[in-house]
Amino acid sequence: MRKLLTTTAIAAVALMALSGCSTRTDTTGGSSAAAGFPADSLIGIALPSKTSENWVLAGGLFEDGLKAAGFKGDVQYAGASTTVKDQQDQISAMVTKGAKVIIIGAADGGQLGTQVKAAHDAGAIVIAYDRLILNTADVDYYVAYDNFKVGELQGQALLDGLKAKKPAGPYNIELFSGSSDDANAPVFFNGAMSVLQPKIDDGTLVVASGQTDIKQTATAGWKAENAQSRMDSLLTSTYGDKAIDGVLSPNDTLARAVITSVKAAGKPIPVVTGQDSEAESVKSIMAGEQYSTINKDTRVLVAQAIDMAKVLQKGETPEVNDTKSYDNGKKIVPAFLLPPVIVTKANAAEAYANDPKLSPLTK
Ligand code: BGC
Repeated sequence: MRKLLTTTAIAAVALMALSGCSTRTDTTGGSSAAAGFPADSLIGIALPSKTSENWVLAGGLFEDGLKAAGFKGDVQYAGASTTVKDQQDQISAMVTKGAKVIIIGAADGGQLGTQVKAAHDAGAIVIAYDRLILNTADVDYYVAYDNFKVGELQGQALLDGLKAKKPAGPYNIELFSGSSDDANAPVFFNGAMSVLQPKIDDGTLVVASGQTDIKQTATAGWKAENAQSRMDSLLTSTYGDKAIDGVLSPNDTLARAVITSVKAAGKPIPVVTGQDSEAESVKSIMAGEQYSTINKDTRVLVAQAIDMAKVLQKGETPEVNDTKSYDNGKKIVPAFLLPPVIVTKANAAEAYANDPKLSPLTK
């Protein structure tokens, strides 16, 4: 599929060159691929607050990678409290400084319309990184791991983990989802529910609290303390005399918060899912506490985003491999999606074999 698209893209560009068209026309549905720009141009990177380890890693990798590619990089993070305003101001400043490409991990995907329009008006190309930017036609590309697949893998891991502990249900579970200002949160949740809902319907899984709506399961700001206090309340309200068998957690930070809460209540640790391959969670998995995580290698995602900038610099059209899934409310954003990998204790050594930071943790 990927190969096919590359060939198609090359063919399209070649065809346009032959017919005397400029590569400004984008066959993928984006509005980008202007006539290229100087090789030492400024590339802006606007990242959200550091709610998980992947964002911290991404910043450093962008700094180094952009430099190695010959670009000037401007990497900014939104702060912890004035997140949205910070990021809006940072993007505006990048536009003013003349950034040619602005790569954005949105703090709030629904609040950047004005800033990305200004970026477009100034001739910059906008790439949504990891999180989609919503309700604007001014986003050219999306580069991310396949978020729906992440959710499906989490749902399946929860089922597998439960079955391994106790061969037959019913199992008592609770559901957690991410922050409602993150466009990824419902995609992860819907992916997981596509696997879990049939098992809730047939009685294999019981959400004992009854809280199955994403509004009830959300974790504001992806903050550990919010997940921990919701778990504390659930344990008190619902699990006084009941065992909790499993918890769907959308990421590692929240998984560890859930585990902390259960431990403090003196209960056995349920099967808990995660995402991000944070070092502390990999340790927890190896110690038999957290059940699973997802490997979305940040090195690969950052490299893909920088590759897109390099292609755009030459005035060419970046490769995409999905032109139908990511409707942001105003357009279907052409996406390059990478495949996420589920990791449990059983495959951790293999999954992190080429990761010098995580591999030693699996020994
Ligand atoms: C990312 C996850 C991360 C979460 C919290 C999501 O948008 O895709 O990898 O765990 O944000 O930072």
